[in-house]
Amino acid sequence: MDIKLLKTEAEKDLTLSKDLKDLDDIFRKYLGKKGSIAEIFNSLAEMSKKDRIKAGKEANELKSFLIDKINQKRLDLAETIKGKEQWIDISLPAKGPKTGHLHPLTLIKRKVSEIFESMGFSYIEGPEIENEFYNFDALNIPKDHPARDAWDTFYLDKGLLLRTHTSPVQVRFMEKNNPPLRIFVPGRVFRHEATDASHEVNFYQIEGLMVGKDVSTANFKAVIKEFFSRFFGKKIEIRLRPSFFPFVEPGFEVDISCVVCKGKGCSVCSKTGWVEIMGAGMVHPNVLKASGINPKFWQGFAFGIGIDRLAMMKYKINDIRLFYSSDLRFLEQF
Ligand code: DAH
Repeated sequence: MDIKLLKTEAEKDLTLSKDLKDLDDIFRKYLGKKGSIAEIFNSLAEMSKKDRIKAGKEANELKSFLIDKINQKRLDLAETIKGKEQWIDISLPAKGPKTGHLHPLTLIKRKVSEIFESMGFSYIEGPEIENEFYNFDALNIPKDHPARDAWDTFYLDKGLLLRTHTSPVQVRFMEKNNPPLRIFVPGRVFRHEATDASHEVNFYQIEGLMVGKDVSTANFKAVIKEFFSRFFGKKIEIRLRPSFFPFVEPGFEVDISCVVCKGKGCSVCSKTGWVEIMGAGMVHPNVLKASGINPKFWQGFAFGIGIDRLAMMKYKINDIRLFYSSDLRFLEQF
């Protein structure tokens, strides 16, 4: 057998081989028990000494040459398969399950709750479906009074509605509990309004109420200043401006010193150094009366803060609609 011819044939076979099965066939054909190389070794005995030494040496060289070539081709094929993404690297670590987390509004609600609870306020909830009495009448907002227009309302059947604010829970709580009392009421509220960057048909508020023998505006200022300083983690100044809400007298709009520029003036506070953050006031005697409490002996303050507003200020978000978009690119940042 001509060893040179055999080598050429083997090289041709290797070049044409396309997969691991072809390689196995080539291995068997040349290097197997009954393969060409074995045949050469078997025929050595019949040769002259000189031919035997020459043929034996050449057959051994061809054998190791083919083993190297086949191994190399095996690696090349593996690379190609990997390139075609049929390759699975079983040593890679497995992908873990994605864990969820709390919604930014829930995080804010929890933070606010922690602060008010530490100041002795109790966490109270009320119904999202209200009736006109609690949402309006008992809060000193008479039927057919223009003040009612301040709250664009989703009305349901039979005098029911979706509450437009958390204030009705003040009345519900005072009907069943005697002063002195201190509560805060986080909850969902609804407005029949067009949406834009700062308005949603559904958002969250926190109502606060403190009633006692001599609870005054000074107490309110102290409580709310402490609240904002702890919420934002820095000293916050507050400013009260006279305003009108039917359920308080006097009523105020509360501004806080801008957390972005610390009062120096920037785009967030329209260069004023102050940001309007909530409504508040001294509970109107009519509201105490409607709740069965005698305003001659008791007085107190109430306030309402938007949770979405607080979250927007704390996280510097410029569009309220993002909270309700269910967009993971937004939510995964918290
Ligand atoms: N309920 C008011 C609103 O939704 C907010 C508010 C203002 C609540 C003044 C209060 C308050 O308790 O005293 O617009």
